[in-house]
Amino acid sequence: MSKKTMRAVEALQEAQKIAFAPYIFQATISLRKLGIMDFIFNSKNGATLKEIALGTSVSEYGVGVLLEIAESSDIVLINKDSKYELTKIGYFLAFDNTVNVNINFNNDICYKGLYHLNDSILNGKAEGLKELGNWDTIYEGLSKLTPQQNKSWFEFDHYYSDYVFKDALEVVFKRNPKLIFDVGANTGKFAITCCEFNEDVKVKMVDLSGQLNVALANAKKNGFENRIEGHEIDWLSENPQIPTGADIIWMSQFLDCFSKDEIVKILSVCANSMDKNSELFIMETFTDRQKFDNAKFILEATSLYFTTMANGNSKMYKASEFMTLIDKAGLYLVEDINQIGENHTILICKKK
Ligand SMILES: C[S@@+](CC[C@H](N)C(=O)[O-])C[C@H]1O[C@@H](n2cnc3c(N)ncnc32)[C@H](O)[C@@H]1O
Repeated sequence: MSKKTMRAVEALQEAQKIAFAPYIFQATISLRKLGIMDFIFNSKNGATLKEIALGTSVSEYGVGVLLEIAESSDIVLINKDSKYELTKIGYFLAFDNTVNVNINFNNDICYKGLYHLNDSILNGKAEGLKELGNWDTIYEGLSKLTPQQNKSWFEFDHYYSDYVFKDALEVVFKRNPKLIFDVGANTGKFAITCCEFNEDVKVKMVDLSGQLNVALANAKKNGFENRIEGHEIDWLSENPQIPTGADIIWMSQFLDCFSKDEIVKILSVCANSMDKNSELFIMETFTDRQKFDNAKFILEATSLYFTTMANGNSKMYKASEFMTLIDKAGLYLVEDINQIGENHTILICKKK
């Protein structure tokens, strides 16, 4: 909505919604956790406050305060029989898969830490991370999160890449690679999917030691210990190196974990390990490549997770920003594929 069309009274209402946004968020968490949304959804033609309190074993006071703010926030409505029903917004908050993954991630990983956003920006450091553990970056702590935090982090992480792996594999295997380096292999999902897709390919997963051990154990569990191996690295160390010999170096949702200078360093190290035939694939969700404002909004909000919780200096980038970094690292773009799933782009690069 443009500045001109919004009336002052509406603008004030929006400003107050932001002022009280944490209340609306936490009320939503409670409405979900206490089973109130499910109960309302499953009641034919809605339910009264008394019925909801009885059905969920929550006090009338508790149900009442949650539903009052939920009604003002358009999460529920009161119908002509004076019963509560979910609105469309309420339905999505309760049952939409993407919203669900985002809510769990924001509550279990980001909520407490976000309080430290201002200090994170001032200090260029993820000051909110101390709410989860005593690590320099969240990646050091991934294998040490509590089971619930672990579930929320990995569901969020996988949600935004798993569904495009199938499309991505078609692009990767058009090149008929014999050896792929999966940089930022995480749980090994992509490496395992490659080995399931093609019976000859070998994959070297490149990651921090904690994550690499998890990924190697998963590769073994899937029977691929002879085709998937690991290379331990900390890209933030002084002189990180990777072996030579990859036909394709694959990076999915990886470079957004680093600052621009760090990205140039990582890409330069990769360029050094490449010959004139090897290719480097970068798969990302770029903010300037989204068809829908909703997707751009999610990515820009996710940048603040990187600021406060992940490392303090990375973000979700624009593709236009990556063009400069690729060039600086001694690479050039050979293909720019913009239709991977709904939100992803693959940039294919070669050594200059
Ligand atoms: C967001 S995950 C990428 C996940 C996966 N490639 C995907 O598409 O779902 C980032 C990965 O980068 C790894 N990583 C982060 N910082 C690192 C560092 N300093 N050195 C090596 N790997 C790092 C993490 O351990 C994690 O596996």
